[in-house]
Amino acid sequence: MRKQIAAANWKMNLTIDKAEALLDDILKENIEPAENGQVVFAVPFPYLMMAAGKLNGKARYAIAAQNCSNKKAGAYTGETSVEILQSIGINYCIVGHSERREYFGEMNQMLAEKVDLCLAQSITPIFCCGEALEVREKEGQNDFVRKQIEDSLYHLSAEQLQKIIIAYEPIWAIGTGRTASTEQAQQMHHFIRSVLAGKWGEEVAGNISILYGGSVKASNAKELFGCADVDGGLVGGASLIAPEFVQIINALKH
Ligand code: PGA
Repeated sequence: MRKQIAAANWKMNLTIDKAEALLDDILKENIEPAENGQVVFAVPFPYLMMAAGKLNGKARYAIAAQNCSNKKAGAYTGETSVEILQSIGINYCIVGHSERREYFGEMNQMLAEKVDLCLAQSITPIFCCGEALEVREKEGQNDFVRKQIEDSLYHLSAEQLQKIIIAYEPIWAIGTGRTASTEQAQQMHHFIRSVLAGKWGEEVAGNISILYGGSVKASNAKELFGCADVDGGLVGGASLIAPEFVQIINALKH
């Protein structure tokens, strides 16, 4: 069975003392996810090593970067390469979050480069896709998301694709408290899986974890994760509150 994943996206929040306390509060619960379960914390860059150190070899827990450069190395002030991430033991990286696309001008082609660099360093990209409200209002979400996948992932081999995680995050549901209904989430996740199946085959598509993101909370996680094609969540706001995120981890399908 494909992996079921609870991924926290802390974004640009928490000073170091609060970040340490939050991680401690969650880890002390000692939740042992099922065999196919995985918990990931995407923390701000300066906390990566601190956070990785706290995991203490827990196999089903990992730390992610929230972004990486699309350049390999060199004179790119302020950027962080996948090689740097790999050298400090980071195995996951969010790629193409809608906030990066919207506020930092990240385009599909650039994201394809980031995905390639991650894969070359054995870092699992958590590739984000999802439409804005005006796209959904015109019922253009399927074409929009298909294009994001085509432009950034279609060049990958089946073997490469199986190393990535996809997160569907409708922009209208991020940080708004407005969650996609289970029907909307399941429909889109099923559609994404059918796009993957069309390109790489049913078996490969069946192995890819597709996370839902957008106002996931303890109160709706179980229902969302219960959808056949939803394999966990990428969680912003609720991942900053220990008891909320603990319940979200516990809501993963077994
Ligand atoms: P949210 O953010 O849970 O606060 O809506 C999700 C995300 O942007 O990854």
